[in-house]
Amino acid sequence: MNEATVRNPSGLVTTVHGHPFMSILIGATSLVFTAFYVVALDAEANAGPSAVAGESDVAAEAEQADQCEFACGDDEGLVRPEGWPEDEPLPTVNSNCTRCHLTAGRELTAAVVHFTRSAHDINELTCNDCHGGNTEDDITAHDDEFDFIGTKLSTHIATCADCHYDEAEEIEEGPHAWDWSERINLEYPTCIDCHGNHDVGNPAGDLTLLDVCYDCHDDFEEDFPGYAQVVEANDEYWQTMMRVRRHNRLQADPIPEEFVDDVAELRTETMELFHHAGKLADDRAAALADKTDRMREALAAWLEEQ
Ligand code: HEC
Ligand code: HEC
Ligand code: HEC
Ligand code: HEC
Ligand code: HEC
Repeated sequence: MNEATVRNPSGLVTTVHGHPFMSILIGATSLVFTAFYVVALDAEANAGPSAVAGESDVAAEAEQADQCEFACGDDEGLVRPEGWPEDEPLPTVNSNCTRCHLTAGRELTAAVVHFTRSAHDINELTCNDCHGGNTEDDITAHDDEFDFIGTKLSTHIATCADCHYDEAEEIEEGPHAWDWSERINLEYPTCIDCHGNHDVGNPAGDLTLLDVCYDCHDDFEEDFPGYAQVVEANDEYWQTMMRVRRHNRLQADPIPEEFVDDVAELRTETMELFHHAGKLADDRAAALADKTDRMREALAAWLEEQ
């Protein structure tokens, strides 16, 4: 490997993660974006050996970024990579991380594609909120002294839990709890099994929460009929939610204003159930599944009106 990779001990896109990457929530309409993303990445892949970034590329990118500061490319200063359609939003925050990664190619750009319009992007977080690193200087952007986290998953999970301590605490009290300071294990689900890493709240994959549960619980629907009922309602709800988010992708908040509070309440209620993973009474399962169905129907009706 090249020197640039050596500077990051975790290596280029090695994953220490045991489970196949999974994200909760699916949307048929997100296929449009997924298709674009494949095209965009193909274009990068065909760009020749320079698409595989090395030390010299980092230096070249750094020099270019230094020269153009925020004014390079379009008004926001973020350069659209080849194949990034004009009507696709760019990340909300213009950091040196997003600036350089947007045009860095392959999985380096894919991270930005997935991150854009995620819950974190909408709330104006950027790459270094999870990965650390130096946002002031490109050359030392990935240096350890700025607490850079590459792909070391256990460190990432601890970081998720630092920001979301209330939500993490719910998990600590339930059967899915494990010591987050330990190495990642295959036995218990991690935050990103259920939420994804870059596309939190706005997944582009085609896996469902049901698939995530089946990954470890072989007879999920027989063993946990109440959970299965809620999971299925939630998966369907998310298909509609993703169509709404896609429709509103250029809005500051893609969730229509009249739904914001109800969506947040439903999310918290669903979170409490799944993070706890405790005993679930039939009537509570039925009530939550019903509430989820009604939210889906209301969003579908809103879409019809557009
Ligand atoms: C000037 C360009 C540039 C800047 C600025 C930049 N990166 Fe990178 N990044 C790269 C390149 C090229 C690679 C792949 C080679 C390497 O690992 O150095 C990479 C790799 C990575 C990886 C994968 C590392 C691994 O171990 O697999 C992460 C994560 C990352 N960058 C995050 C960030 C964050 C966070 C910032 C902002 C603090 C940032 N980058 C700033 C160009 C850049
Ligand atoms: C919410 C936290 C979070 C944010 C924000 C985030 N990342 Fe990541 N990123 C992760 C995690 C976790 C992994 C490791 C995934 C694994 O090991 O399976 C990762 C992995 C990566 C990788 C390695 C390749 C891959 O996709 O697994 C790159 C490159 C990367 N991130 C770049 C970025 C860039 C660029 C941004 C900003 C646009 C960003 N990340 C924002 C959590 C985040
Ligand atoms: C620097 C703080 C920070 C870190 C680190 C962070 N988040 Fe978040 N996260 C936020 C903020 C801010 C929001 C938006 C407000 C909210 O919903 O609490 C958010 C929202 C979320 C949501 C709600 C999604 C939705 O549909 O609205 C989930 C799920 C989530 N984060 C999971 C994660 C996971 C998993 C990680 C680690 C890979 C992570 N977060 C890392 C700050 C953080
Ligand atoms: C990576 C593996 C893994 C994944 C993915 C996973 N679980 Fe679990 N689950 C476990 C383990 C391990 C236990 C603890 C079993 C024990 O204590 O015997 C558990 C326990 C549970 C329990 C408590 C069982 C009891 O008898 O009290 C429930 C409920 C549960 N999981 C629901 C789910 C749901 C719903 C999903 C999908 C959203 C899911 N799990 C995904 C590994 C997993
Ligand atoms: C077994 C699956 C699973 C795991 C593991 C998991 N979550 Fe969740 N989480 C959920 C579900 C389901 C929801 C509700 C999502 C929705 O409908 O938007 C949720 C909701 C959330 C929310 C939104 C809470 C709110 O009130 O809006 C946050 C933040 C969050 N999770 C963070 C985390 C973090 C951090 C971890 C790891 C420490 C984690 N989750 C692990 C399934 C999981």
